[in-house]
Parts: sequence; structure tokens; C-alpha cells
Amino acid sequence: MTVDKQHQILEAMGIQVWESRCPEASGDVAPSPIGKIKLAATPPATKLDWQGLQQTVTACRACELHVIRTQTVFGVGNKDADWLFVGEAPGAEEDRKGEPFVGRAGQLLAAMLFALNLKREQVYIANVLKCRPPANRDPAGNEVQQCEPFLLRQVELIGPRVIVALGRFAAQSLLKTSDPISRLRGRPHAYGGTGIPLIVTYHPAYLLRSPMDKKKAWADLCLARSTLQASA
Ligand code: URA
Repeated sequence: MTVDKQHQILEAMGIQVWESRCPEASGDVAPSPIGKIKLAATPPATKLDWQGLQQTVTACRACELHVIRTQTVFGVGNKDADWLFVGEAPGAEEDRKGEPFVGRAGQLLAAMLFALNLKREQVYIANVLKCRPPANRDPAGNEVQQCEPFLLRQVELIGPRVIVALGRFAAQSLLKTSDPISRLRGRPHAYGGTGIPLIVTYHPAYLLRSPMDKKKAWADLCLARSTLQASA
């Protein structure tokens, strides 16, 4: 039922409906498509240092996900890492703990890192979205767009030598393509205008459901490692 319809019914019952007097449009505030939620323009991130960036992400209200998040999930790891792993968005556990890849998919990611002789603390791990989409739905286009400057600034600050996109969604978002993952795996791409090599592999959550594809994921990780070594 729409809010207007609810108001009509309440008014017909003689119940006074109170409205917020908060102005709908006050400069940087745009009306939300779902009604009363106030969204703020994405804050600029281009010149921020780590602390400023983290504070900006924590305070972000640029999309509706800010309403239902427990907290933002900024990213974790070595801020000087050669390797950057990028997933899709926080899940329920990540939303609770404020850290990416801490659930079952995170355990498999840790195993993938171990196979590369890497520890979680040596690499940087982030997501395309910093807030959890409800019911683990796919991130919406506007959510990706609003969050994009934050990941871009993380990439600039880290200066990784290779980026590994975990899963179709991260790959398509980072490469701005709708090509299927089957077409994106197996060769180095470049991330945006940075020229940083980007390798696409399966998302660990997918690999938990489809362990047969772990072999292909290992080939992707080996390609990422050889790409990084070639850039030395
Ligand atoms: N899946 C993701 O893509 N990111 C997380 O942080 C957790 C699960």
C-alpha cells in the first residue's frame, strides 16, 4: 500500500496524519524514490587521505542502503599492498562486523590467499559497495555509481600492482561492461584509466556452490601472480 493511500485511510478514520517538516529539497538533498528517506549527494573523495576517506564512507547517505546498514564496510588489509581483491558487497556477517569477507566466502578467500602464499594482512580486500544490500540482492546501478568514487580513491591510495575482481558483479562494475564472466576471465584487463592490471575470477561464494570451478579459479590466481611478477 502506498503512503498516500495509508494517509487517505487514516484521515477517513479521523486520525490526524503528521508529516515531517524537513524540507524536501534543501540544496544537496534529493528526494528518495521510496518516499521519505533523504539522500545526500556523494561526497567528493578525490583528494582524501585514508582517514578522511574512511570518515566520509562512514557518514555516507548517498543511497538508500544507508538506512538499513548496521555499519559501513570500508575495506581491510595492507594499505600498501601489491594485491587488491574486490568483491561485490557486504553480506549479513560483514554488515555486523564491519569487515569484508568474514563469513564462509571469506574463509574460502583466505584459503585462496594461502594457496598464493599470501596472508589476509598482506593484501587489501574491499567491495564495490560499502553497504549491505537487503536480502543479499544484487547491487543496483545507482548504488554502484554512488559508491564508485570511494573504491577508486582506495585504489589510488593503495596503488596495487594487480587487482583481482571476485565474481561477475565486481568484474562487470570495475570494467564497466555487461560481458559474462566467461568472456572476462583468462586475460589481463586494465582498471579504468589507472592502467593497473585487473584479473577476473569467480566469487568465493560461487565456488562454495560450484567446487568444480575451483581449478579454473586457481588458473586465474596464477595468471594474477604472473601478471604482477611481469610488472616488476
Ligand atoms: N561477498 C562479497 O562480495 N563481499 C563480502 O564482503 C562478503 C561476501
